[in-house]
Amino acid sequence: MEILTNRDEIRAWAVENRKAGHSIGFVPTMGALHAGHLELLRTSQTQTDRTVVSIFVNPSQFGPAEDFNRYPRVIEQDKHMLRQAGCHALFYPGVAAIYPQHFQTSVTVEPLGSDLCGRERPGHFQGVATVVTILLNLVRADQAFFGLKDYQQFVIIQRLAQDLNLESKIVGVPTIREPDGLAMSSRNRYLSQEDRQRAAAIHAALAAAKSAFTAGEKRSGRLEAIARRILTEASIHRIQYISVRSATTLLPINTVHTDGVILTAVKVGETRLIDNMLLNLPDQASPSS
Ligand code: PAF
Repeated sequence: MEILTNRDEIRAWAVENRKAGHSIGFVPTMGALHAGHLELLRTSQTQTDRTVVSIFVNPSQFGPAEDFNRYPRVIEQDKHMLRQAGCHALFYPGVAAIYPQHFQTSVTVEPLGSDLCGRERPGHFQGVATVVTILLNLVRADQAFFGLKDYQQFVIIQRLAQDLNLESKIVGVPTIREPDGLAMSSRNRYLSQEDRQRAAAIHAALAAAKSAFTAGEKRSGRLEAIARRILTEASIHRIQYISVRSATTLLPINTVHTDGVILTAVKVGETRLIDNMLLNLPDQASPSS
């Protein structure tokens, strides 16, 4: 696996591979890799000839009171996992390679970026959109792969790729879950044993809303109430939002006709967890642009 650490190296790697006739897949991450990331890599490997994974804990997407400093950084373990999985290249830049001196540009996707998670984390999606634009522009991959666990992020990145006419096709990859349903996340390692058990209620709550939907309940308010009840029964009281939205625009909808998604963000102990479930399909099929 090649390890690239600056803008020139990643650009040269991509140019060389394109010249050699290879299609390129790109998997941007913040490291602390888990089975969800490996699924992104596997999907890229099945759809493209050469995959590059990036690991960059992006400071601009963390608020001042958030977990940037304690975000898990386990680069040797990550490299090992990527080598084992047959990844072709790792882009592992330092902060100065992404945000050089005098950097002052930012990308905002509004109003999408200030709704839902954006309300709780002001500036978060501006940080995400900015770094993803830089990365997509450096790699210019044929396809870039993002987890659908971060559903709002996925919709925002699709929007920006379309609006800015970026070359990469943005592909959403279904969420990988623990056996009890908890969505894989690098932040799950913050949970105490007791909180880890309670966190399983997040998936149970969304699944209950989905069952009610499948059984004929189409009213957003009712579906949200069903999910909320299961969260509170599991003593998850700090519910930042639980909301049924259009799966394509993320705008609020009163009734789910064709394309709904139920999304939630909760605090379990001090850990903020998010999850979602599509309401229109039997499973989370992977939407792509
Ligand atoms: O989902 C993530 O890990 C990050 O938000 C991303 C897309 C790598 C941007 O920093």
